[in-house]
Amino acid sequence: MKDTTNNVSHHSSSYHVPVLFYETMDALEVKPGGVYVDCTFGGGGHSKGILDKLGPDGKLIAFDQDADAAKNIPGDERIIFVPNNFRHLQRFLRLQGYPKVDGVLADLGVSSHQFDEGDRGFSTRFEGPLDMRMDQRHESTASDILKRYSEQQLHKLFEQYGEVTNSKTLAKQIVQQRSNNPLKTIAQLKSIISPVVKGNPNKYLAQVFQALRIEVNDEMGALKELLEQIPAVLKPSGRAAIITFHSLEDRLVKNFFKNGSFEDKNENPLLPAEQKNDLIIITKKPIIAGAEELKRNPRSRSAKLRVAERKTE
Ligand SMILES: C[S@@+](CC[C@H](N)C(=O)[O-])C[C@H]1O[C@@H](n2cnc3c(N)ncnc32)[C@H](O)[C@@H]1O
Repeated sequence: MKDTTNNVSHHSSSYHVPVLFYETMDALEVKPGGVYVDCTFGGGGHSKGILDKLGPDGKLIAFDQDADAAKNIPGDERIIFVPNNFRHLQRFLRLQGYPKVDGVLADLGVSSHQFDEGDRGFSTRFEGPLDMRMDQRHESTASDILKRYSEQQLHKLFEQYGEVTNSKTLAKQIVQQRSNNPLKTIAQLKSIISPVVKGNPNKYLAQVFQALRIEVNDEMGALKELLEQIPAVLKPSGRAAIITFHSLEDRLVKNFFKNGSFEDKNENPLLPAEQKNDLIIITKKPIIAGAEELKRNPRSRSAKLRVAERKTE
């Protein structure tokens, strides 16, 4: 399917339409002979943009932990696909013989494809298994978490990752009911929690699902590990561009780019005044989607792009 709303022909726009496409390309300042990393290949839309700017000697190393993404790899000798978690960035870059790179992009979260496949269990719209693993080689599914976590763990998880208003009541309800319910399917989860749903049920369920998905895939842990490796893998003046979709992720990226630490300096007076930071933040404020993109792609509503540059020493 071709994107007819503008001139970009993305690699697989039915799989996923990239957000903040032009803004990201500008941010990366792609040099024709450079080496770039797309940590989240997905449908390959951003990767295609990078490849279009690279010359014959350029390289693109693309990661995705979801085996489905591999079907979008273009027949292009300049691309190396790494079917693994970007939390192992530095290790795989060394392995491929490119320990230092000119730019790193990450467009976090799940793809439209993952949402649209009912069997993957990411979407509240379908009946399917309570799975939610991006990497199906992993053992722990959403069902396992719902069955094994303590009431307190579930409470924290729904509160922190889903901002569910009655997360304590929700956790209690799940723990009380789970011995009589296999909790294997989305319908089973919906039926268990229906008595405690507050406010708009679609919004409530979306928050519950978001929290589970973040936990199943350890999204916060992977992002932290990625950020910590970025200064070491970037060449001087190399760029990092990260697109986030919720405030917890955005806060980590902002603080790390600004201060070289995950904590907000203003919130923690115990942090040393001068933290070592090899990055310079380029975006004082995050870049967000413009009116045209918001109209065309609702997914862009919560997208925030932040950009940093490696100091030259
Ligand atoms: C929002 S989509 C990226 C879409 C892509 N930019 C495009 O233009 O099509 C996120 C993708 O990153 C992958 N992903 C998310 N977290 C990952 C991680 N920690 N390691 C590797 N891949 C990850 C997901 O499987 C998904 O395919």
